[in-house]
Amino acid sequence: MINTLKDIEIRNKKVLIRVDFNVPIEDGEVKDTFRLDSTVDTIEYCLSQNASIILMSHLGRPKGHDENYSLYPIMDYLEEKFNVYVHFSNDCISNESISVSNKMLKKEIHLLENLRFYDEEMLNDKEFAKKLSNHADVYVNDAFGLSHRSHASNSQILKFFDNKCIGALMEKEIINLSEDIDSDSVIIIGGAKISTKIKMIENYINKASHILIGGAMAFTFLKAQNISIGLSLFEEEMIAESKKILSKISDSKTSLVLPTDFVCSKDINSDDTEIYYSNNIPDTCMGLDIGPETSMQYSMILSGAKKVIWNGPMGMFEKNRFATGTQSLAYDIKEFTSKNSLNSIVGGGDTVRAIKAFTDCNCFSHVSTGGGASLKLLSGEKLNFVRSWNEN
Ligand code: 3PG
Repeated sequence: MINTLKDIEIRNKKVLIRVDFNVPIEDGEVKDTFRLDSTVDTIEYCLSQNASIILMSHLGRPKGHDENYSLYPIMDYLEEKFNVYVHFSNDCISNESISVSNKMLKKEIHLLENLRFYDEEMLNDKEFAKKLSNHADVYVNDAFGLSHRSHASNSQILKFFDNKCIGALMEKEIINLSEDIDSDSVIIIGGAKISTKIKMIENYINKASHILIGGAMAFTFLKAQNISIGLSLFEEEMIAESKKILSKISDSKTSLVLPTDFVCSKDINSDDTEIYYSNNIPDTCMGLDIGPETSMQYSMILSGAKKVIWNGPMGMFEKNRFATGTQSLAYDIKEFTSKNSLNSIVGGGDTVRAIKAFTDCNCFSHVSTGGGASLKLLSGEKLNFVRSWNEN
């Protein structure tokens, strides 16, 4: 059983929190605070317990020490948000940084520099983890976005703490993304590749009422039924697998719904678009977004749902002319969440980017901070972090 914050004694302790502060930073400025905001509850709880807090995270994938990947710009956010003294150490395991942690006063925060400046972090090195553990008496893992990986700061480190738990964000993510679903639930899966989402599709067959498909992966399913898709993107090597899924679905109580129309163009850079039915895409065109009829049909299905889990955009939403399908889906889910009490769970890096572009994360029941980690849970798999916890 994994401990949560309420299960362990944090009062007056030094608490080392593994967070996922892997956020976009440009010219020393944090461009998106969603992941930072999502850890506020955990940090506030620890501060309310008079703890001294040491925060550690990775940022990007630097090769060795590289100032372009420094976590220093996050200091401003922490100072403003919590109104407490914030220390910063530019080496996460140096004697100086350990000594800063040792001397910290209650209700102070100590931010450590990017863990990935040491290769040992991603190599899940035990000695490195041991050095990190010297910062504190208690360990909290709130880095959900990293929990599909086994790195020193979320895996080996568990060996060095008796007092350890997960944070409020990790708890919320695990509950929302792995909860059983009822038969009035709808799953929406989009994105370019079936290969990355196949396990997720399989996980919900016979559980959900509908699985709605969008994005380029729809073309692999159409192609598997010998429907001509023009120049649209598809995965040749997934045709056989798609046929198997289609046959499994037809024997199940779940309906797999494919788009009936698409916004098409001759070229992704062309401004000329046309709507075609799925069985009528010209040889010279490619589908780049779901069409208006499909959007209406998906909206109708969602209007009767109690829960929706959405992972993957409906089209190439980065370009305005192919964004309408994803945008109207986001608006529908937002409206049904507030009017029908739809339990709306959104996961996946691109999907979250899309809803941020069109609306506000607070309009949904739960928006995940994890990409790979959320997909793993939605695929019915165990997180690496949970495996490590069970082994230690
Ligand atoms: C993410 O952004 O998905 C997490 O922070 C994990 O980052 P990584 O893919 O570089 O391990």
